Amino acid sequence: MQIIWTGHSGELADRASSIVADLVARHTSATIALPTGTTPLPLYARLVALCRDGVLELSRARFFNLDELGGKAASDRQSYAQFLNDNLFGLLGASCGSVRLLRGDAAAPEQECREYEAEIQEAGGLDLAVLGLGRNGHIAFNEPGSAWTSRTRCVALTETTRKSQGGLFASPEDVPRWGLTVGIATISEARTILLIVDGEGKEQALQALLRAIPDPQWPVTALLDHPDLTVIVGPLHAR
Ligand code: GLP
Repeated sequence: MQIIWTGHSGELADRASSIVADLVARHTSATIALPTGTTPLPLYARLVALCRDGVLELSRARFFNLDELGGKAASDRQSYAQFLNDNLFGLLGASCGSVRLLRGDAAAPEQECREYEAEIQEAGGLDLAVLGLGRNGHIAFNEPGSAWTSRTRCVALTETTRKSQGGLFASPEDVPRWGLTVGIATISEARTILLIVDGEGKEQALQALLRAIPDPQWPVTALLDHPDLTVIVGPLHAR
């Protein structure tokens, strides 16, 4: 595990975008899983700028998202799909490769998860998983106690996680109680993992990772043995 401490979110984005750009330069049709959340926003802005400047070419990359809120269609402004379309894919235009996003409104969500997992495997697995970190140590929507052998599936969301989604919803009661998530095993098999940690309230989860003791109550510790894990830490301030 390589840890990079940065003094501000812009520096985090610079370091993270370099890692993505290096990987794509080596492997133009890389399969990449991406997170939602406020942490990756400066990274996505950098990737868009690099593509506009002709420095980065993502037109052959294959993108997946890591999670989605239960019941939310891609057209729903609260969906993670819409977030990624608004902040990355839509801005890349013709520079954007193929995109497969979890369908939160699928009529048969478990089947959707199985198909999604199969599509990742058919693509040869993930070359790169970019991850955010939940305050309770979750990665994607793999909440504390998730099996480290888990694959893409439907999960119940903890109250901590539901509260952290609050900004998009008029009332806390409106936040879905479940989500769809790529599993810990699928993430752990990614050949390269980039974990970006920023925002307030992440100290305990980060400490759990730094203690280097595998603990299913802190899902992020499932990554400890990964042979190519880079963690980039921002100032951990409120944004
Ligand atoms: C959310 C998402 C994760 C995300 C994490 C951190 O619950 N399910 O995919 O990485 O929390 O979000 P943020 O970057 O906004 O702190």
